[in-house]
Amino acid sequence: MARETGKTMTPSTIRIIPATDAASFGTAAAACFNAILRNKPDAVAVLPTGITPLPFYAALRDNFAAGQIGNQFTYLALDEYCGLPDGDERRFASWVGRELLDPLHIPAWQRVTFNSRASDPAAEVNRIETWLITHGGIDVAVIGLGGNGHVGFNEPGSAFDTRTRIVTLTAATIASNAEYWGGTSRVPTQAFTLGIANLRAARHTILLVRGAAKAAILRRTLTEPPNPAVPASYLQHQNNVTIIADPAALAEIDPALFF
Ligand code: GLP
Repeated sequence: MARETGKTMTPSTIRIIPATDAASFGTAAAACFNAILRNKPDAVAVLPTGITPLPFYAALRDNFAAGQIGNQFTYLALDEYCGLPDGDERRFASWVGRELLDPLHIPAWQRVTFNSRASDPAAEVNRIETWLITHGGIDVAVIGLGGNGHVGFNEPGSAFDTRTRIVTLTAATIASNAEYWGGTSRVPTQAFTLGIANLRAARHTILLVRGAAKAAILRRTLTEPPNPAVPASYLQHQNNVTIIADPAALAEIDPALFF
């Protein structure tokens, strides 16, 4: 079962919801997301890829099938590999599409994605930045946590004022992403990503973390002085952060700090 808890960290408020199994993890994350949609059905939502959010998407599909949530929200891509054709299974737009957007019948005009093969990458970056400005920014950023502390594809060293841009992926990220696609040769070396400054402007943030492999980096994210060496540590300065995490991921968190 997921249980709700929380404690004020100075200067931000981070609420941690521990969830013991994948199903309750998904349910807790979906409940958190749905609470935001209830207040703003046409919210702008940034959504992540990865293994971690799969139970969250499963819970949202169930909620939709049961008529408990609508499909008026707009999906804004968090990140995307460069150089892949439309429809390539590795495209993050395809991944989130398969898991959530297609089952919820989210129309194309509510999917704001990077053109992976943009002929003018700088113009593509500007297009997303302009879209954000003209559509009032991010209502909810649902994000995962890279094993090296990355958020989206903001790799270690990403300053907290970075905006949308193209980045070169680190060897660690290519190795972890190789597990999705069957080898490092299948992982593009460059990617678009929203920047930390874009994510900092989000009105709500939901961080999803599962597994023992994330325990050390979650501890560093929450307890080291905020520092670009651990990009996710920007969350310590953020308001309205909810973390859904399983016991394995929380193993190195001092309960006295959060519970
Ligand atoms: C990828 C994505 C991130 C994701 C992270 C964790 O590199 N770019 O957005 O959060 O890795 O993925 P996983 O949940 O599979 O551990």
